[in-house]
Amino acid sequence: MKTPDLYDAQAEGLTQVHRMITAALDEVAAQSRLAAAVTQATGAARFVLAHHHVEDTVLFPGLRELGNGATAFLDARDREHRVIHSLAERLLEHAAAPGPRVTELVSLSGELRRSLAAHVAEEEAGLSAENLRQLITVPNFTQLVARLEAARAGAAKIAGR
Ligand SMILES: [Fe+2]
Ligand SMILES: [Fe+2]
Repeated sequence: MKTPDLYDAQAEGLTQVHRMITAALDEVAAQSRLAAAVTQATGAARFVLAHHHVEDTVLFPGLRELGNGATAFLDARDREHRVIHSLAERLLEHAAAPGPRVTELVSLSGELRRSLAAHVAEEEAGLSAENLRQLITVPNFTQLVARLEAARAGAAKIAGR
């Protein structure tokens, strides 16, 4: 049996979480009842923010510190994160505002999903297993994966999961 490869696992995990976030945003459009749309939109926006929080505070700084030469790529993704962050905040605000409307929740989720689609395509291509292997050595990547696992465990604890 092939030994599980850290680089493959990271790239697959990233793709998987992106798919889950996209599906959560798509689900908003499938809601016809306001209460369900509010719940779904809030969950999807928080999911986006939580995922990016781990990238902003652990993955990207770790790649900058322990990897080599991904700075321009990461800077561009950081800029996209800021745009996506403000869209996610707008969605959360509308969901929490008095008198939210399903049409607005669907429209904001669609906008967020479109920004995210371009961003995750870039991220998955730039952080493919093959590229990661060139970017960061096995010992350094092992260290970064441990930091990511600790951050995810911390986030799950806060979320009460
Ligand atoms: Fe990202
Ligand atoms: Fe991501």
